[in-house]
Amino acid sequence: MTAQEFLGKKKYTIHNQTVSESCPSNIALIKYWGKYENQIPANPSISFTLNHCKTNTVMEFLANEPFSVQTFLAGNEEVKFAEKIEKYFRNIEQYLPWILQGKYIIKTENTFPHSSGIASSASGFGAIAKCLMNLDESFSGKTSEEESLRKASFLARLGSGSACRSLYNGLVVWGESQVKGSSDLFAVQYPNDEIHDIFKDFNDWVLLIHEGQKSVSSTVGHGLMNTNPYADRRFQEARENFEPMKEILAVGDMKSFIKLVEHEALTLHAMMMMSDPAFILMKTGTLEVINKVWNFREETGFPLFFTLDAGANVHLLFPNAGSEEKIKSFIESELLQHTQNNGVVKDVMRF
Ligand code: PMV
Repeated sequence: MTAQEFLGKKKYTIHNQTVSESCPSNIALIKYWGKYENQIPANPSISFTLNHCKTNTVMEFLANEPFSVQTFLAGNEEVKFAEKIEKYFRNIEQYLPWILQGKYIIKTENTFPHSSGIASSASGFGAIAKCLMNLDESFSGKTSEEESLRKASFLARLGSGSACRSLYNGLVVWGESQVKGSSDLFAVQYPNDEIHDIFKDFNDWVLLIHEGQKSVSSTVGHGLMNTNPYADRRFQEARENFEPMKEILAVGDMKSFIKLVEHEALTLHAMMMMSDPAFILMKTGTLEVINKVWNFREETGFPLFFTLDAGANVHLLFPNAGSEEKIKSFIESELLQHTQNNGVVKDVMRF
């Protein structure tokens, strides 16, 4: 979308305004890892939007004050975050011409523990982008819900790529792919009527293997794909994985879903190990859990499997399809011991 297409022909009347928005986090099944200029993804990705892990944001805009941003996370002032947001706002001025014409006080809190290592950038930028669209509409008139969401997704992408997927519920696609309407510029919802019911009521229990800052940020990680000799093959594989994924989702093929999702997670981490310099974000506990999950599945046949994001935590995925109580007690008795502080965040994907 060019700035002109994004803006349409608008007149703005800015005024003091406070808006508040909430946005959930998401977990990718086919991963985005590697990007081009302006946050254009090197390959398409698909994710589940979570239901409980959210960021709630209140944004106060004081019109006609010198441009500045002050941010608070759970009541504590965060200067570093404010600097990041300031840079982001300057970057999107071409889309929101009023954005530098005031002062911002942004109060934000996550429903999940701050130090958990759960990516707050997706829900965080998602909520900020929604607040910005709210302000934009209050200064220039309402647009349709659909357009407003698409624009919020477009803006969120420019803050943190994967954030653009958090604007929609259910299964969400970002990046040009076989999925109708998909784009590199914003995310779209995967067609609901092409998803088997088994994928519409799922658990994601996040085992907090390592709490705190990770050793390599995802910005650096994406950058290292530029010199990774396996990058082109990986981007091609992710694109190709959409073909079986579409079929799997339509027919409810859980076995193939598990294989594909775990393969994607391990490939993401393999890419990290094959970067120069190499890095490893998994910890001992991550590997212990993966092995136990594989053994459990082998022994019981129950559909418990994992995915990983760019960190050590393990996202344990399992459908609510009859065996969930046995899976839950296995997690509590066998897997929780590999977390740092008995930490687990229990989320669901329900739509
Ligand atoms: O949105 P970023 O730049 O934080 O990158 C996220 C990358 C992964 O979480 C590893 C994968 C994904 O598709 O969400």
